Amino acid sequence: MMRRSIWTKIGIFGVGVASLVLGRVGLEFVTQPQSSTLLAADPPTPIPSPKLPEGPLGEAIRMGELLVEQTATHEWTKPYVGNALHCTSCHLDNGRDPKAGSFLGVAAAYPAYSPREKRVITLEDRVLNCFMRSCNGTRPPLGGRVSVAITAYLTWLSQSQPIAMNAKAPLGPNAVPKLTTPIDNLNLQAGKAGYAKHCARCHRADGAGDSENPPVWGARSYNDGAGLARVEKLAPWLKVAMPLGEPMLTDREAIDIAAYIHSQPRPKFRLSEHLPPADRLGEYNADPAAK
Ligand code: HEC
Ligand code: HEC
Repeated sequence: MMRRSIWTKIGIFGVGVASLVLGRVGLEFVTQPQSSTLLAADPPTPIPSPKLPEGPLGEAIRMGELLVEQTATHEWTKPYVGNALHCTSCHLDNGRDPKAGSFLGVAAAYPAYSPREKRVITLEDRVLNCFMRSCNGTRPPLGGRVSVAITAYLTWLSQSQPIAMNAKAPLGPNAVPKLTTPIDNLNLQAGKAGYAKHCARCHRADGAGDSENPPVWGARSYNDGAGLARVEKLAPWLKVAMPLGEPMLTDREAIDIAAYIHSQPRPKFRLSEHLPPADRLGEYNADPAAK
């Protein structure tokens, strides 16, 4: 995390060399300068070039990025997180990675219809619901400082992206695409072997991770109501994200490893345990009957 935050900060001040335009995202990017402090495994990270707005708005955006990077430990967000994960654990490079849980362009897709909540939801709702599920914590207050800072950061990453509200799913233009390989014939033995070969050196054989690498199952992991808790979401994410810095799994390997990970224990999601007390809730924008 730390190795990246250095670049993030430099990026904000606009140090860059080559620039290229990522057509789908529509933002201009500058590539990070190479340096001996950059670990060999880290690919150059694209950095949006628009300068931060001045004053409190710019400060909110910077705070939003910090919260995305240090979600489980920062004093603003820690009370709302129930596991060891930061947003950047899954939205790589603070959501600046163009493929692995990218935040580039997301703000342009909202308000969007959410089949899970059976409602139209805002970007704020989407962010806050991640605290309950992926971060196994409590929903922060709508309109509060955490919500405003994170959505300001996401909106900043979406500048210049044409608005294209999503009528089918709360997903932006760079969401991880589904695999074309059907999710069936799950082979847990092959998944276990693949995990030992490609993953255990960082996430440990018992899935608990260590101070550098987050847990992938167990009490400190995401709960079974999270997006990644489904093989059809985890497998395509693994294909573009893991092993970190060198994703190379075949569809089959990603599916079997995802199935193996999900044969292991993790916290159970019960909505009522993740909502704040009624007087702090505001409107929870979902059909009360939705699970
Ligand atoms: C355990 C992994 C994980 C963590 C931790 C996590 N997310 Fe997510 N998030 C996902 C996945 C996977 C998706 C895509 C879900 C899908 O395809 O339905 C997603 C989707 C989103 C989206 C919608 C993206 C889009 O394309 O519209 C937003 C916004 C978001 N997350 C914000 C956050 C924030 C903010 C945090 C931290 C508070 C966070 N997430 C933590 C895995 C995670
Ligand atoms: C070189 C070390 C390394 C390897 C190898 C690696 N990961 Fe990761 N993984 C990480 C780190 C570090 C993160 C958090 C990303 C960040 O903070 O930038 C992560 C995040 C994750 C996440 C999302 C967050 C969580 O903890 O649930 C999953 C799931 C995951 N890895 C699964 C795998 C699988 C499966 C493999 C093998 C195919 C694998 N990883 C290989 C280091 C690694």
